Amino acid sequence: MDLIIKNGTIISPTETYQADIAVIDGKIAAIGKGFPEDGATVVDAKAKLVLPGALDVHTHLAMPFGGTVSADSYLSGTRAAACGGVTTVFDYPVQRKGMSILGLINEKKNICESEACVDYAFHCCITDLNDGEILAEMEKAVEEGITSFKCFFVYKKEGMMVDDATFARLLLRAKEIGALINIHAENPDLIDLNIEQFKKAGKTSPWYHYLSRPEYVEAEGDKRAIHWAKNLEAPLYIVHMADKEGLEAAMEAKKEGHEVYVETCPQYLEFTSEVYKREDGRNFVCSPPMKGQESQDALWKAIKTGGIDTIATDHCPFQSYEKDWGKDDFTKIPNGCAGIENMYPYMLAAANAGKLSFNKVVELCSSNPAKIFGCAQKGSLTVGKDADIVIYDPEKDFTVTVSTMHSDYDHTIWEGKQLHGYPVMTFSRGKLVYQDGEFVGEPGWGKFVKRVGRK
Ligand code: URP
Ligand code: ZN
Ligand code: ZN
Repeated sequence: MDLIIKNGTIISPTETYQADIAVIDGKIAAIGKGFPEDGATVVDAKAKLVLPGALDVHTHLAMPFGGTVSADSYLSGTRAAACGGVTTVFDYPVQRKGMSILGLINEKKNICESEACVDYAFHCCITDLNDGEILAEMEKAVEEGITSFKCFFVYKKEGMMVDDATFARLLLRAKEIGALINIHAENPDLIDLNIEQFKKAGKTSPWYHYLSRPEYVEAEGDKRAIHWAKNLEAPLYIVHMADKEGLEAAMEAKKEGHEVYVETCPQYLEFTSEVYKREDGRNFVCSPPMKGQESQDALWKAIKTGGIDTIATDHCPFQSYEKDWGKDDFTKIPNGCAGIENMYPYMLAAANAGKLSFNKVVELCSSNPAKIFGCAQKGSLTVGKDADIVIYDPEKDFTVTVSTMHSDYDHTIWEGKQLHGYPVMTFSRGKLVYQDGEFVGEPGWGKFVKRVGRK
């Protein structure tokens, strides 16, 4: 044995039990009791929980966006991931007009080869079909393990928006080749109209970011995406769901038997639109924005009843000076917030406080994302799978502050958040990469996760 984790309480989506885990060559070799310890590194996890590493299936690392580039590189973003118990990071490279998707992915893979501190995968954002060339390329991408693609109904002036016909073609093609389409759903025309009116009236504080894309603007996008997916009989994954009406439409579609998956993010579970009235409201500007209390309550309820399938972060931080560009004009604030290091600790602390079970957190943050996105080696503590393991101390108190995070940003929306319970160790394929507040891994350790398609 290379590593033995003993005396801990193992958490799976369905079970909580006492057992030891033995690791050989980065894989879980056995789960049981009384393994021979000679030569192995032995970790005593008494009074600790032993969890599968989380998958953060929604991040934007080093992404050119909002007139700048998001603050975390592939190195710092995956370093922070390791320190928050995330052992697989999915990034969203954005194809620009005329660009090949395979070329783009290879470029990102090359960067990750030397920078990634934990394992990584890509969903590719498609903005242009290049006269149909991309539809052909998608099949090759699936063969190479890129089995999901994203579209935006928004970001028109950034050249990222797709129209309904493009979205429909992508849904049909994805169905044909065993891929999955992810959608950012909001209504772009309503956003533009609202912005125009607010600007004319001199209403430019961050509160108007929320009011330009309130509940009904997101709900229309959600319902439109669901409508096309249902009628074209294609699977659909809705990213960063934040509104009650759209959520209910997705839950209804699921009930009718359609393959619709719903992701939400910790920021929508923790904050409401009230944050945009704060002095530092611009730091919370992301799209879709945080919504009202009713939506937040609906999201928590859906977590318990199965309406939400995954939690991911939409990690896309910007520096304070960049957020300040929009001090007097919300349309100049780069959209996005940090979260990669906070997701698992936040959800686990919620479980520790009795808001949901630890098993449910493992399902939402690890096993469901692994299943939905075809990561066969990830998402559970099972013999034969990668030894991506988090040791969690349910008694450790931790207060989030930017200086103890492991990203490259200079502020966080999670500043001051008190968590009871915190990860104390993260193993990536059996290698210790985080311990007691310190990153102890190495850039370049992370490997590309070749995913399996849905056929
Ligand atoms: O505000 C956000 N969410 N920025 C990142 C891009 C996106 O829409 O996911
Ligand atoms: Zn988005
Ligand atoms: Zn995003």
